[in-house]
Amino acid sequence: MNNSPEQAAIAAFFDSCARRGLMADFTSEERGKIPRLLARWNVKPGGRILEPGCGLGRLTRILAEAVGPGGLVMALDMSEEMLRRAAQRATLPNTTVRRGSVYEIPSEDGFFDQVICFCAFPHFTRKREALREMARVLRPGGSLCISHLSGRERLNRFHQETRSVVSNHLLPAGDEMRGMVEAAGLRVEHLKDTDEEFCLHAVKEEKGGKGMTGYIAVETTTATREDAEKIARALVERRLAACAQVSGPIASTYWWQGAIETAQEWRCRLKTKESRYAEVESAIRSLHPYSVPQIVAWPISHGGGDYLDWIEAEVK
Ligand SMILES: C[S@@+](CC[C@H](N)C(=O)[O-])C[C@H]1O[C@@H](n2cnc3c(N)ncnc32)[C@H](O)[C@@H]1O
Repeated sequence: MNNSPEQAAIAAFFDSCARRGLMADFTSEERGKIPRLLARWNVKPGGRILEPGCGLGRLTRILAEAVGPGGLVMALDMSEEMLRRAAQRATLPNTTVRRGSVYEIPSEDGFFDQVICFCAFPHFTRKREALREMARVLRPGGSLCISHLSGRERLNRFHQETRSVVSNHLLPAGDEMRGMVEAAGLRVEHLKDTDEEFCLHAVKEEKGGKGMTGYIAVETTTATREDAEKIARALVERRLAACAQVSGPIASTYWWQGAIETAQEWRCRLKTKESRYAEVESAIRSLHPYSVPQIVAWPISHGGGDYLDWIEAEVK
């Protein structure tokens, strides 16, 4: 599990909340809202649900009952104390309680029908990374729900007023959220951002759906041919990309530290699965000598069926 000082401090904060029993149960007013939420989230018998940031598991059992014996719920949290208590309550056989981070979800690609992120998203400080990882574990057509029982402004004010490690854990405004969610490869179908409630519902594009094949081209640029070839070789060897083409030299013009620079660069373009983007980005970053490397990706909207099948087979 990623244990950076920032994440360790957040886990310690929630360990102490767990010891105090905070958010152990819904109030009766909140409980009254749950059936409507389950309907809005479209929770169905037989569904496979991931609940990241499950806390003390006040929602976990409700989800487990709603999906029934044919479905399953994985409740995930990085706070040991939260989980210890959640595990005592999650007694249904269709429920697994796992300690882990939303940035490294312990699941294969495309396993879940739904990710229900309930009262937890502001605490995921690396929001784009969290969204990409939640999108990775959703099956095509599966959905992500980010839901809160109070409005965004009230929630953000509440966090700010705690004067604690969560003071800057804010829920971004609707348009910013929409942009981040779509950048993770999900299509926003419903967004309610009112004084009373925040609810976002997004769907992972079906393969071959609207302008998407599920495959992407990722590009980076380097100062030397050797660096571009090193990245190409490493990513193909690690099966993070099916192929990579190095081309150049190219003439680049860009802003850097307040001045316009020009330089000769080399381009490395890789083809891979959309679901592996986060790993590809992190591998390029670890091999790249620049402090702010260009790492950008484009969806492949169409492609020869045999070629796309080949990418599928070679990226493992
Ligand atoms: C406000 S609590 C909400 C818990 C629960 N969803 C509920 O409504 O009762 C947020 C939870 O998110 C967890 N959390 C924060 N960052 C996390 C991360 N990166 N990965 C997994 N869980 C995380 C915390 O440990 C905490 O239990």
